[in-house]
Amino acid sequence: MKTKLMTLLAVLLCWTAADAQTVFGTARPAEKKILVAYFSWGGNTQHLAEEIADMTGGTLFRIETVNPYPSDYNECTVVARNELDNGIRPELKGSVDNLDDYDVIFVGCPVWWHTAPMAIWSFLETSDYDFSDKIIIPFCTYASTYREETLVKIVELTPASLHLQGFGATGRNTNGVENWLRTINIIR
Ligand SMILES: Cc1cc2nc3c(=O)[nH]c(=O)nc-3n(C[C@H](O)[C@H](O)[C@H](O)COP(=O)(O)O)c2cc1C
Repeated sequence: MKTKLMTLLAVLLCWTAADAQTVFGTARPAEKKILVAYFSWGGNTQHLAEEIADMTGGTLFRIETVNPYPSDYNECTVVARNELDNGIRPELKGSVDNLDDYDVIFVGCPVWWHTAPMAIWSFLETSDYDFSDKIIIPFCTYASTYREETLVKIVELTPASLHLQGFGATGRNTNGVENWLRTINIIR
């Protein structure tokens, strides 16, 4: 059952990932303005976001909550579980300057309780930003499970956007980032 579900989600992600050639047309990716927005509790996703920004020339934006999550791992899991179970969108601090200027937006986070942290809901659902017609590229870091579900969640939260194939890394092992960015035609 679990395998079937994983396959279904993987297929869904492939369906929603537009062809890079179609998305970029004749414009070179280098001409597109790139934002790398990420949420990170322990630094792993930040590490991946920084690599993506380094390789693409993108601008980093850290998604942060007004009330920080507990620094203790177990306490953090309890707060995160409560937010997820109750659909709580935590208030965010700071905002992206001129989101309209960006063509491509990487959105990344850790896997939290088999999906994206609720801070990602807050970020992608806010009426402050219009993600329609943006190219959204999901990425995540995780310990061992729910990579696809988390990438799919970012796609689901941006229904009016175009999507390219996402990427997931375990911990700080970012092997494969460059290949992925080449495959989706963001770098050459
Ligand atoms: C609240 C919470 C829930 C987590 N749930 C999962 C999970 O369902 N699957 C998984 O593989 N890892 C899970 N993890 C581990 C993180 O996804 C992983 O350590 C990630 O790389 C952390 O990224 P960060 O350092 O950017 O916060 C969880 C961690 C926390 C704090």
